[in-house]
Order: sequence, then C-alpha cells, then structure tokens
Amino acid sequence: MLRPTSLVEKEDFSSRDRLAIPFNRPFQTGLEKIYIEQALQQAHISSNGEFTARCQNWLEETVGTKKAFLTHSGTGALELAALLCDLAPGDEVIMPSFAFVTTASSIALRGATPVFVDIRSDTLNLDESLIESALTKRTKAILPVHYAGVSCAMRTISRIADQHSLLLIEDAAHALLSKGAGNALGGIGHLAALSFHETKNITAGEAGALLVNSEGLIERAQVLWEKGTDRQAFMLGHKDKYTWQDLGSSFAPSELTAAFLWAQMEHAQAITDRRLCIWRMYNDALADLESMGFLRRPVIPGDCEINGHIYYILLNDAATRDATLQYLTKEGIGAVFHFVPLHQSKAGRKYGRVSGQLTNTEEYSARLIRLPLYPDLKDSEVERIVMTIRHFFLAT
Ligand SMILES: Cc1ncc(COP(=O)(O)O)c(C=O)c1O
Repeated sequence: MLRPTSLVEKEDFSSRDRLAIPFNRPFQTGLEKIYIEQALQQAHISSNGEFTARCQNWLEETVGTKKAFLTHSGTGALELAALLCDLAPGDEVIMPSFAFVTTASSIALRGATPVFVDIRSDTLNLDESLIESALTKRTKAILPVHYAGVSCAMRTISRIADQHSLLLIEDAAHALLSKGAGNALGGIGHLAALSFHETKNITAGEAGALLVNSEGLIERAQVLWEKGTDRQAFMLGHKDKYTWQDLGSSFAPSELTAAFLWAQMEHAQAITDRRLCIWRMYNDALADLESMGFLRRPVIPGDCEINGHIYYILLNDAATRDATLQYLTKEGIGAVFHFVPLHQSKAGRKYGRVSGQLTNTEEYSARLIRLPLYPDLKDSEVERIVMTIRHFFLAT
C-alpha cells in the first residue's frame, strides 16, 4: 500500500538513499534461455521454424486475427503493411502526429504522404471527428495508433473506412491484450502492427508482428513476408522451386528471437496483470494531486480494457513538465517524455502534410511524462516515485 499524504509530506528526503529507478527493465520469465537452447539444438536458427509457428498461432488465437506474421520489429510490421496496401506516390494516409517516427516513415518510404490529424484531449488518440475533413480523393488508408494501449474510437473509424473504401491499419504497438468495445485491439482493422521492442509488455528485444484480419490479403502477405518469393508454396510441395514473385523483403525474425518471444507469450497474461497492478497503484496514489489541480491522470473510456502498457501524467504546462522531469531525474527516477509531434520534425515537414490545427497534439506532447512501469518494479519503488512527485508539488 502507498502511504497516506500526511506521512509522505513529513518524509525526510534529505537523508534517504539515492536508489536509481530506471525507466525500463526488460522482464525475463526465466524460460528464454531454455527455449533459445532448444532452438539451437534443433539446428534451425533462421526464420519460420517451430518457435515462429508457436508465436504466430498464439497471436491468432489470442487476438483472433486470421493470420499473424512475426517480424523483426514493429517498424518491420508497419513497412510490410505499407507494401501490402500498395501505397505509392500520390497516396495519402490519415494518422496522428502524436505517434512514433516509423508509423509515418513506413508510409513515406513508399512515397506516400502521411496526413497528420489532431488527437482527442481525453485519450490522446486520433480524433475520429476530424478524419472526414482530412479525406481527399488521394486518401488510401487510415492508420490510428492505440496510444498507451487505450482503444481509438474504432466503431466510428471503421465506419468511415468502410464508407470511403479505405484500408484500415491499426498501429497496435502498445496494445497487445487490450480491448475496445469488447474487441481485441489488433483484430479490428484490415491489418495491424504489434511491437515486441524491449519497452513493450512482452518483448524479444526487437521484434514485432503483422496481423492480417482481411482474408484477401493473406496470400500476398505470405509472399511479401518471405522476401517476395513463393517459398511457402515450395515448402508445401506445390512448386519444384521458389522464385521472386513480388516486391517483398526480409521481414521475419530468427528462431532465436522467436524462442525468446515464446517464453514471454506463455506468460503474457501474468506480465500484463502485474503491469496493470502497478498502473492502478500509480492511478490511486496520484488521485489527490489531480484533485488539487497539479496534474491530470490518464482518461480511460468506459468501454476500454487496458493492458497497463504506459502510465503517464499530464502537467499543467510545458515549463512544469520540464521542471518535474528534471526533479525526477535528479532524484534518480528515469521518467521520460514522448512523442515529439511528427509534423514539427524535420522529416515530418518534408514528407507529411497537416490537416487542420494540431493544437492538442502540440499541447499534450509538451505536458506529458511517462513514469517507470515494468513487472520487476517493486511496490516500494512505485511508492518512492509517487512520494517524489508529491514532494515536488507540495514541498519544493
Ligand atoms: C506507436 C508505435 N508504433 C510503432 C513502433 C515501432 O515499433 P518497433 O520499435 O518494434 O519498431 C513503436 C515503438 O515504440 C510505437 O511506439
């Protein structure tokens, strides 16, 4: 349990030890090395072996997607999605500017244009009410990001995509095991990208997955995933050799990566539960600072089930955010901020286009701090982080 306010305010901060709490500590279940050893013994360490199949099957069952392809990163999954959608110069893709770099660069790499739309003030997700005003005859796809594992307004976004015959690609990098309106995130759009980067809920260091929910895209996805070849047909004995068929690339991770990932997938629910427990500790302990007007906590719409991926706070202005971050850093706490709005970046200005005003994007990205959150974070460390924030506001 976190301590009540009165005790925290009387804490003697000058005498306490300065234990550093990093922003992230990649979690290991203990099975990773064992499975990597098994992959080595099976003498199949390139891609698409037994561990890859296990991971892909697990994703298909867990998310309810028709076909999952492991990739070397979430970025790889987004780039594979962009290839599969045949994005080309002249095409436009509607997305938030409050997003990761490669959410946009995957589009720009195909010569298409990311069209940046503002975010909602509650969830910091793409504002679905602004999508229609950003549509042009060049619009080919919508790419919403489920920020912090909180669902975008997928019913409305799916309806707009259907009405205008657009492809819908979910950036579900943060969203494994989250739900929106009862639907697993990553299983809603035609395509979805997951990330298993070391900061994500389950990880293999660097890895990702493309989820193909649209039956009609599966066959070609298989070819693009396997370097643009018909290797799958060859392996199934349908061809006597495999050759270059389409524009693909080397997207699949090695079996060593898949073996590591499988150890994490087996424990995905327990990992998520621990993260959710920490998320709730922060949320309960920071409630009174919110009611005193010092900060804002995340807003989770009633129909969203979250996965405890990110705990963030919004400070009242950019100067307070910077001062809070500086204080946390000085106290040995690895808090961070993100995302720098893409439309304000050098490449974002060059390759993207803005639709309307991006007021919320600019404001909230300047006010946000992410707090440490990982299964190995001890309750006492959460307590210390909260006390430090409390001390910043109430005693400095
Ligand atoms: C929203 C979002 N999309 C895509 C990515 C890319 O994933 P990866 O780092 O696995 O390439 C990230 C990475 O952090 C992300 O946060």
